[in-house]
Amino acid sequence: MDFSIKAFNTKNAIAEHKSSCIAVGVYEGGKLSAAAKALDLKGSLTAAVKSGDITGKAGTTLLVHRSSGPAKRVLLVGLGAQDAVSDRNFISAIQSVTRVFSQLGANDALLALPLDGIKGRDAHWALRIQVHALRESVFRADSLKSKKDETQSGVRKITLLVDAADAATKHTLKQAVAVANGMDFAKTLGNLPPNICTPTYLATSAKQMAREVGLGVEVLDRKQLEALKMGSFLSVTNGSVQPPKFIVLKHMGGKAKDAPVVLVGKGITFDTGGISLKPGGGMDEMKYDMCGAASVLGTMQAVGEMELPLNVIGVIPACENMPSGTATRPGDIVTSMSGQTIEILNTDAEGRLILCDALTYVERFKPACVVDIATLTGACITALGHHNTGLFTRHDEAHDALADELLAAGKYANDTAWRMPIEEAYNEQLKSNFADMANIGGSPAGSITAACFLERYTRKYTWAHLDIAGTAWKSGGAKGSTGRPIPMLTTFLIDRAEG
Ligand code: BES
Ligand code: MN
Ligand code: ZN
Repeated sequence: MDFSIKAFNTKNAIAEHKSSCIAVGVYEGGKLSAAAKALDLKGSLTAAVKSGDITGKAGTTLLVHRSSGPAKRVLLVGLGAQDAVSDRNFISAIQSVTRVFSQLGANDALLALPLDGIKGRDAHWALRIQVHALRESVFRADSLKSKKDETQSGVRKITLLVDAADAATKHTLKQAVAVANGMDFAKTLGNLPPNICTPTYLATSAKQMAREVGLGVEVLDRKQLEALKMGSFLSVTNGSVQPPKFIVLKHMGGKAKDAPVVLVGKGITFDTGGISLKPGGGMDEMKYDMCGAASVLGTMQAVGEMELPLNVIGVIPACENMPSGTATRPGDIVTSMSGQTIEILNTDAEGRLILCDALTYVERFKPACVVDIATLTGACITALGHHNTGLFTRHDEAHDALADELLAAGKYANDTAWRMPIEEAYNEQLKSNFADMANIGGSPAGSITAACFLERYTRKYTWAHLDIAGTAWKSGGAKGSTGRPIPMLTTFLIDRAEG
C-alpha cells in the first residue's frame, strides 16, 4: 500500500482534486464536514444526506457515484457528534472506510476526514491511526495457501489529507509506516506454524531483518548458554530436538554513553506444557507463545527503519517446550544464571524460566530500563480479557514513572495496558521447601505470582513486565496475530527519543 500526503487551500482546492474516490466526514444530524461541503457539487451530497441514507452516526458509510467532477465517487463517513469527535468514533469511522476501500473497484483514493477537532488528540495521532488501520486491512496470512484468499484488489494508492504537508507531518507518516512494517513482520512470524517458525528460524529472521534495517545482531547457541550458566533457560529446552537460540539485537541511535532501553521477549516457538502436558483442545494456539519475541523483533525493525535517536537493545530467549524422555520433570531443581535455585513444580510455567536468565543476562548493558514482553499466563486473560495487556512493576517512584510512561503510550497508540500489583504478600506463594523458590504459586492471582517470580531477577535496574497472553493474538474465526504491543512499545520509545 502506497501513502502520500496532501494539503489543500483556496488555490489548490479539494474540489479540483482528481481521484477515483474521496472519503469525507459527516457529523451527527447530517452536517457535512468542511471537505464534504467543498465537494457538494450541485448539492448532491446534501441531497444524499437528506434522503436519510446516512445520518452521521459514527462508522456508517454511503458511497455516492458522480457523473461529473474530477472525483468519480464520494464516500460519506459518519463521525458522530461534531463538538469534539471522540477517538473511538474516529477509529470506527476509519475502520469503516478501510472496509469500503478494500471492496472498491478503484486503485486510488483520497482520505479527507477532518484531522483536527478530535477530543484530546492531534493531527499526528489521526495520521498514525489511519495508516495503521489501512495497513491492517490489507494484511494477509495466506503465504502457505496454494490458492490465495482473494486477488489483491481494492484501493492500493492512498492520499491522506493533512493540514500542512510540512516536515513534521512527513516525519509522522514515515514513522507510522515503519511501525506498520514492524507489525507486519511480527504478525507474520506469529502466524507461521511451529514446524516452520522454530528457534533457528527466529534467529535467521532476526539476522536478515537486522541486515535490512542496519541493526547489530548476535545469536548465542547452546554451548555459549551453558558457559553463561543459564541453567533455568536450558532446562526448558531439554525435551526438544530443536536447538535453543538466544538473540541479541542492537540499535545504537543515541549517544554512545547513554544507557539503553532493553526489551526482552519470550520466544517459546511451541508450548506443549512439557511433561505437565496441556490439554489437547486448541493447543495449536501455543504456536503464538513466541509473540513476545515477535513484538521485540517488530519493534526493533521499526526503531531501525525510523533511525530513532535512542539506544535500544532487544533480547530474545527462544526454544521449544516439549515432552520427551530427556525433558525436565516436575520436581527437578535447576540453578539460574543469577545463582538462585528453582524447584520446577510445573513444566508448563516455562516462560518465567527462560525469561529469568535473559533478565539476568541484560544486567551487563546497565540499562536505563528493561521491559519484558511475554504471553506468560492464562490467568492474565482471566483477569483482563483480551482488551488490556497486564502491566507489572515494583511500586516506588522510579517504577511508577515507568509504568505511567507505558500506560500513556498504550492509550495514545490505542494499544492499552492495565496496571496490576506486585506485593510481598503474593511472594509467599512461591515458597519451596527445597529450593530458593518454586516456579508456580498456585491458582490464585496466577499472573501476579508469575510477575513476582520475574521481579526477583530484576533488582539491579528499573523494570516493567507486560503480560500479553490476552492481547497478542485472536482466536476463533478471526484467528491471527494482532501485532500488539508494538504500537505501545514504539510510542514509548519515540516519546523517550523525541519527547
Ligand atoms: N504460554 C502459557 C500461557 C498462556 C496460556 C498464554 C494460554 C495464552 C493462553 C504459559 O507458558 C503457561 O502455560 N502458563 C501456565 C502457568 C501455570 C502452569 C502456573 C498457565 O497460565 O496455565
Ligand atoms: Mn506453558
Ligand atoms: Zn508458555
